[in-house]
Amino acid sequence: MSMSLVNAAYIIAALLFIMSLAGLSKHETAKAGCLYGIVGMAIALVATIFGPESNGTFWIILAMIIGGAIGIHRALKVEMTEMPELVAILHSFVGLAAVLVGFNSYGLHHAVAVPEHLDAAAQAAFVAEQNVLANIHNAEVFLGIFIGAVTFTGSVVAFGKLRGIINSKALMLPHRHKLNLAALVISALLMIAFMRNPDNIFPVLVMTAIALAFGWHLVASIGGADMPVVVSMLNSYSGWAAAAAGFMLNNSLLIVTGALVGSSGAILSYIMCKAMNRSFISVIAGGFGNDVQASSDLDYGEHRETTAEETAEMLKNASSVIITPGYGMAVAQAQYPVAEITQKLRERGVNVRFGIHPVAGRLPGHMNVLLAEAKVPYDVVLEMDEINDDFADTDVVLVIGANDTVNPAAMEDPSSPIAGMPVLEVWKAQNVIVFKRSMGVGYAGVQNPLFFKENTQMLLGDAKESVDSILKAL
Ligand code: TAP
Repeated sequence: MSMSLVNAAYIIAALLFIMSLAGLSKHETAKAGCLYGIVGMAIALVATIFGPESNGTFWIILAMIIGGAIGIHRALKVEMTEMPELVAILHSFVGLAAVLVGFNSYGLHHAVAVPEHLDAAAQAAFVAEQNVLANIHNAEVFLGIFIGAVTFTGSVVAFGKLRGIINSKALMLPHRHKLNLAALVISALLMIAFMRNPDNIFPVLVMTAIALAFGWHLVASIGGADMPVVVSMLNSYSGWAAAAAGFMLNNSLLIVTGALVGSSGAILSYIMCKAMNRSFISVIAGGFGNDVQASSDLDYGEHRETTAEETAEMLKNASSVIITPGYGMAVAQAQYPVAEITQKLRERGVNVRFGIHPVAGRLPGHMNVLLAEAKVPYDVVLEMDEINDDFADTDVVLVIGANDTVNPAAMEDPSSPIAGMPVLEVWKAQNVIVFKRSMGVGYAGVQNPLFFKENTQMLLGDAKESVDSILKAL
């Protein structure tokens, strides 16, 4: 395949990636968006593997078969609730790849011999140009390894926290912001040392160790409820790591793709920060504003319990119902009976709508995906901002497996770790039924005073079983 054909293929692939992102921004076009992405990636792979710059096609295809087999196996097995973990570990691979590409392209960089037929002035110009190119290449290698190493360990910690292997509480080392700053300053000094004497790889090795520790610390110092922002932030870092690898390998498509991932991840992080009322800079700087402790042992008094039959009776007599789903609905896979209840009540003339918190569940859009899967009509699924004013005029709110996203402490208790995070104001409704298995805490590890309010009743048990019983009673 000639270079011009490869370039043409790269342009088409880049356009398909942009169309893919545009498609993914709406429910209705998301499937087409996925398809554009798949076609774009297939074109990119074929052009790269069979392009003139590729050597060792056999090894690439062999590696792809092994990697692809592992990927397909994992992707088929993964539960929807494990998706963020999968995404986090995949980000770590991008980071690791950037580190390996960095070391490899450092090792492979050779000085080009000065052509002898040139006169002295032309030779001097040639040498000067080669020096500039070598400097640019060295800077790319250094920065690529740095970004890659931060992404790698950061994503490994995010994986551990999401999987529950690592404590999801924020790690609070003394002087942690100074430690982060020192890591950045020392890395900058090491970069200067490396650029001055690129034959010595020692500064790169030291920087790699620092960047690995920096990435680890950056994510370890971010607390449970801020994890959504971390995942999208690492998504962005992995994009920049890929772009850096693109510069090192002189591959324009990898640069474009990396920049697309990097900037869309950054935009998503910004949106999530706004939704959680967190400052973007504080979150990417690691754990600012996490200086409060969880207060799960506060005494809020007694709670009231109810049954599926009583809840069904209440729903029959209601004229407006809002359902606020959360992570527990995903765990229980309760979206299907929830969709059936919705249909049944709508047939009876009840106004049933859904209120979706931007960080409900464990990944952006988690609840929207589950509800779409169960064929709940899009027009009754509303964002938090669209529905928050309507709770006061609502007869019954069903909180299905949600906890942190409906916690009034976020608004009422300034010492709460989730203080300031906007929440669904479900307690303003006439009746609130909370579906969960126990009186235990949610992801952020804080007790929820909603459970003890006068208009709240707990329907304890697995969400799917509870919703099934209500369906039967209806
Ligand atoms: P959470 O606060 O995570 O609470 C979920 C609740 O579901 C738990 O209290 C649990 O209580 C209940 N539950 C679990 N399994 C259940 C089952 N089978 N049946 C019934 N209930 C069940 O939920 P949320 O309101 O969706 O909040 C999401 C949290 O995750 C936020 O803190 C958010 O910051 C964080 N987070 C979000 C994301 C994204 S991007 N969305 C990513 C990472 C972290 P029991 O154990 O008592 O049943």
